[in-house]
Amino acid sequence: MLQRHATVADVRSALKKLPSPQALVPTMGALHEGHLELLRAARKKVGPEGTVVVSIFVNPIQFDRAEDLENYPQPLEEDLALCEQEGVDVAFIPKAGSLYQKDHSVIVTDSLLSRHLCGATRPGHFDGVLTIVLKLFNICQSDYAIFGKKDFQQLALIHRMVRDLDVPVEIIGHPTVRENDGVALSSRNRKLTAEQRADAPRIQRALAAARDLVTTGEQNPQTYIEAARHHLLKEKPEDFSIDYLELVDHLTLQPISKLTAPATLATACFYGAVRLIDHIEIYP
Ligand code: PAJ
Repeated sequence: MLQRHATVADVRSALKKLPSPQALVPTMGALHEGHLELLRAARKKVGPEGTVVVSIFVNPIQFDRAEDLENYPQPLEEDLALCEQEGVDVAFIPKAGSLYQKDHSVIVTDSLLSRHLCGATRPGHFDGVLTIVLKLFNICQSDYAIFGKKDFQQLALIHRMVRDLDVPVEIIGHPTVRENDGVALSSRNRKLTAEQRADAPRIQRALAAARDLVTTGEQNPQTYIEAARHHLLKEKPEDFSIDYLELVDHLTLQPISKLTAPATLATACFYGAVRLIDHIEIYP
């Protein structure tokens, strides 16, 4: 039976009474198969007797565009029904805005891994993510927390925060869940028109086409980036544009000058106002 709790005090006292180990899956709701896979991974990790906790909170301080926050889908009852189906034990569903004091003034900031990619084009976004994630860790005090590799910069930053601030939680990264046509599942996909959705495989196709250059022994990052850009823009729809396209070291997330170690080719693209991200690993 799924327990629902909306306040910090309630969820804390409920979790104290529930068995260990406990695993937390932080989300912003509008749950899809990608999120459900994380819930299943959480259950697998804690076993049938352990406790699976999901948080559903559209975190206002991580949105850099007001319209994105306003339009974020919030089908709470559907989400809770899915959690129930998946055998989640506790849903932490704070009311909008309720997790922040009016005069809150402390945030978590990274100074390295967030310099590029989404960190560069969405100022303040990762401060917002790290701050809410640390708050959720402190509220739930779970043994494990599961995150998707789809948001690989977010996952890298959370690993870094846990390491640098000695947060007592084990982070587990889960592979990206994709549709049959290669499109990564995302709550934002439901904002695409049918035409945009049908075109969206171009993103993963472009990244894969660039990655395939690795068999030629090519080491110049620019060649990979140009190949991906070519495929992204080839016969593109009018409302399609690239937010960023970068090849970075897979650990430091800094741009590389030569492809000699594992790297990540990552992009964010717009269909109109809908922003989709994806990436691919390149092993030289
Ligand atoms: P949200 O976008 O709801 O994603 C919640 C979790 O689901 C994240 O760990 C994300 O990486 C994972 N996820 C989303 N789509 C996925 C897919 N196709 N395959 C695998 N995992 C996927 O990410 C956030 O929320 C927020 O930033 C949050 C961490 C909750 C902080 O507010």
